[in-house]
Amino acid sequence: MGGYQVVWPPLFIINHKDTVVINTIDEHLQKYGLRHFAQEPGYYAWRVRTLSPKQVQDLDNITSLVSRDPSPENIQAFNDFVARERITPIIQSMRADIIKQSGLQVDALLERRPAVLDVGCAAGYLATWYAFSDPRRHVTGVDFSGETIEYAREFAKQLDIKNVHFHSMDITQAVPDGLFDAIVGTHCFESFPDLRQVVGNLVAHLKSDGIMLSITHTPHDLDIAESFQTAGLKVSPIEYFDASHFGETARFSIVIGERL
Ligand SMILES: C[S@@+](CC[C@H](N)C(=O)[O-])C[C@H]1O[C@@H](n2cnc3c(N)ncnc32)[C@H](O)[C@@H]1O
Repeated sequence: MGGYQVVWPPLFIINHKDTVVINTIDEHLQKYGLRHFAQEPGYYAWRVRTLSPKQVQDLDNITSLVSRDPSPENIQAFNDFVARERITPIIQSMRADIIKQSGLQVDALLERRPAVLDVGCAAGYLATWYAFSDPRRHVTGVDFSGETIEYAREFAKQLDIKNVHFHSMDITQAVPDGLFDAIVGTHCFESFPDLRQVVGNLVAHLKSDGIMLSITHTPHDLDIAESFQTAGLKVSPIEYFDASHFGETARFSIVIGERL
């Protein structure tokens, strides 16, 4: 196939010039500079080669601050730093397969649900994937890191994906206007100090048959499922999927709540 690697599932989209464009989530994430590493040493060698000594030092400092005190302010400062320094690919490549597998799971569950809110969308690599993979969707991505949202907007513009919009917003304080068919949080709901309050506010923005969907891991899945139930959603049995993390298999949970 002349060097072209076929990756499943392929996606065929007829663009306005009636030519067939083939794209996959792998290609999409590569456009964001994400790389998959099977082994940790290879990743860290790339990281050291790519970052300047000052970036390595600053990254170490801010990483140890977040490890000591993972407060919302420190998480926001970390994400602002990563976007400002344009080192998002370096950071997110640590979880490249987790992002990919999460995106594929969510994408499948968004079938026939056009108005989508992606909470804690980071640089927008999945929000733009949901938008790209079905042009009938309107995707709204929010994150409380303003610099990350700037980055997300730039990338969406560069990729010419128009059915996605990004807002810098703390979801514990506000929710974008409108009603959504699906509200999605991948690896995000578990970081909310007052999960029940956030979920309660979000439910008010779900259409009557809309779904709320969280990709997370045990034990957070049980807590998130309970918060969905408390907010009046009908919760499906939790499902699981695997992703590779530096050659190890990691298991993730899909929590789905449906508004009745
Ligand atoms: C672990 S990252 C996950 C990013 C992305 N959803 C993914 O699956 O790769 C969590 C994201 O949630 C954002 N976040 C955390 N708390 C938030 C809040 N209160 N409001 C909005 N975004 C928040 C962070 O800035 C970060 O980008």
